[in-house]
Amino acid sequence: MQKKIAVLPGDGVGPEITMVAVDILKKIAEKFGHEFTFTEGLIGAAAIDAVGEALPQKTTDLCLSSDAVLFGAIGDPKYDNDPSAKVRPEQGILGLRKSLGLYANVRPIFTFEDFISKSPLKPEIIKGVDFIVIRELIGGIYFGKKGRNAAGTAAFDTNEYTKEEIERVARYAFELARSRHSGKRSASRIDSGVVVPPPQNDGKGKLTVVDKANVLETSRLWRETVREMEKDYPEVTVEYMFVDNAAMQLIKRPSEFDVVVTENMFGDILTDEASVITGSIGMLPSASIGEKTAVYEPIHGSFPRAAGQNIANPIGSILSAAMLLEYSFGMQEEATAISDAVKKALAAGLGTKDIVGENPLGTKEFGEEVSNRI
Ligand code: IPM
Ligand code: MN
Repeated sequence: MQKKIAVLPGDGVGPEITMVAVDILKKIAEKFGHEFTFTEGLIGAAAIDAVGEALPQKTTDLCLSSDAVLFGAIGDPKYDNDPSAKVRPEQGILGLRKSLGLYANVRPIFTFEDFISKSPLKPEIIKGVDFIVIRELIGGIYFGKKGRNAAGTAAFDTNEYTKEEIERVARYAFELARSRHSGKRSASRIDSGVVVPPPQNDGKGKLTVVDKANVLETSRLWRETVREMEKDYPEVTVEYMFVDNAAMQLIKRPSEFDVVVTENMFGDILTDEASVITGSIGMLPSASIGEKTAVYEPIHGSFPRAAGQNIANPIGSILSAAMLLEYSFGMQEEATAISDAVKKALAAGLGTKDIVGENPLGTKEFGEEVSNRI
């Protein structure tokens, strides 16, 4: 197959980890006889420094004319503590999500068998954890009206959702829960299961809706909307959970979750928390799916302190490349080849500094070990 992949390395450790993922994709192309072309685009602080804006039109155009986008990370401390900054790196990724209509952010949370002892949580709690958070990505408080009063002494951010916005992301989550229930995985984008790790999904098919319906009007609309959709999915068991309780249950009994759907900011926070289950936030991939080209990125940030030091964990980016192959190109076998190679490397005791105590490998070297196992 011939495919065009846009590569947006971004800031901090973004370029290092993305380079590893690109090398892995090249290895896949060679092994499986595909032809991938990679074109780099500017985004984030890197783009601000080069051309004065976080999301140049050229980058959006590149993404629109590509078959998939591989994204690194965004954020630079030089903008974090400057409240008066007019341009911010984060506008790059937020703008990209919006202009590509990426309403469903798919964040699978799983454990690696050989790695269970590395998580700060007890092995008996995290064994067999395999759930997926669907985070709404282009609405809510991230995109609502925000501002200050004239004196600058009061500020507001608005959380807004329409029924249509809730419905389309909930539909995605329902479809996913149904596909996990049946144990069948189809290559279609909506129905797609998740490739990492191979499914152990029989008997699943539960959807947990996370909200704050005891307080927020938007949450009440979420609940009302999802309730109405329940009848279309009789195979899916639906439960509703307040976000504060969900934050606790994720750590207390994570293996009881299957598919979780929630609004933008709750999803942002809960998935950082859930990454502790896997052992390191550096290991989790994500897919952002919607109306136009899909974007694949690790869930971690730009980790500025580690930038340029060849110490960042590239697994999140490598597995994002695997999701890209499966979700956007329907290449299930290729995607599994990548996740199997990661598992083998971990089973051999290899890893970066965040996950192995003795003899950690560099970002690049660990990437080569994974590539050699494909
Ligand atoms: C994420 C990140 C972004 C977000 C930031 C960089 C804007 O934390 O992808 O989770 O909050 O969505
Ligand atoms: Mn986040």
